Amino acid sequence: MLPAVSRNAAFTGMRTLSPHIARTSVRCFGSLSSVLRGPNEMRPIASIPDDIARELANSHPVPMRHEFADNPQKITTDVLEKMDIGLGSHHVPTSFSDKLAFRLVKLLRILPDTYFRDDHYMRSVMLETIAAVPGMVGAMQRHLRSLRKMTHDGGFISHLLHEAENERMHLMIWMKCLQPNAWNRLLVLGAQGVFFNAYFLGYMISPRLCHRIAGYLEEEAVISYTHFLDAIDKGIIENKKAPQIALEYYNLHPEASVRDVVVAVRADEALHRDANHLFSDVFSSKQVNLRDQIKEQAEKQGSADEALRECAK
Ligand SMILES: [Fe+2]
Ligand SMILES: [Fe+2]
Repeated sequence: MLPAVSRNAAFTGMRTLSPHIARTSVRCFGSLSSVLRGPNEMRPIASIPDDIARELANSHPVPMRHEFADNPQKITTDVLEKMDIGLGSHHVPTSFSDKLAFRLVKLLRILPDTYFRDDHYMRSVMLETIAAVPGMVGAMQRHLRSLRKMTHDGGFISHLLHEAENERMHLMIWMKCLQPNAWNRLLVLGAQGVFFNAYFLGYMISPRLCHRIAGYLEEEAVISYTHFLDAIDKGIIENKKAPQIALEYYNLHPEASVRDVVVAVRADEALHRDANHLFSDVFSSKQVNLRDQIKEQAEKQGSADEALRECAK
């Protein structure tokens, strides 16, 4: 039993604490409910300064693959079908850490296979919410490392940020095709909480292992999108018109269908697969300056591409 003075102090403390706890709880539950319900109503804000407005207006997500980014013509179904993405490409695990990464990813695949089965749209949404994490975590940790070491990063940050943005664009595209229910939104919240923290800690310990895990995750993404295509081809999923956001992002022809979008997204996943396996190899070799290597390679090959020969820091 507390003495009277202490009890009074405790009650006073609780009274002053209670409104704070109440406000915090409302904020927490408010933000949780906004995640479950989707975006809130808009509130007016102060006018946006010119420099910020111009910078925001001129910032657009740019595709990663040259077929989409550098092509002045609209991309046709034929062009999409002929893209060489190394379908079925697989990094054979030989070292212990590679085998660990491979087994872990195969184990993780059981969850979506069991839960989503043939719900390809929802599986794609879930996949993209996870796939957009490694690039951001890797870029953040490379950024912090560059600050600590007070040296250039060697090329990882910009690529990994671009990968994260590319994955987020995949998500934005699929969100035009379905709206996840509250339960699936809660699932995304939980999966992100677990995966972000696990990948963050893992990247601190072994970037090589984490890039290998990301490489195998991308191999699985290519397989999942191939199953999505099969379902469309068999008529199990209707081949609807592609959402406008996908036409604009990939520069697709105006009559493009969801099938075309799946082919384009799968091509991106193949690029992420190759990039992450390459990065894992680069970390194994301890030569972690990609820019120097690109310059050297371009000079050796006598490349006419000035961007490759310069490869500025
Ligand atoms: Fe993706
Ligand atoms: Fe990916």
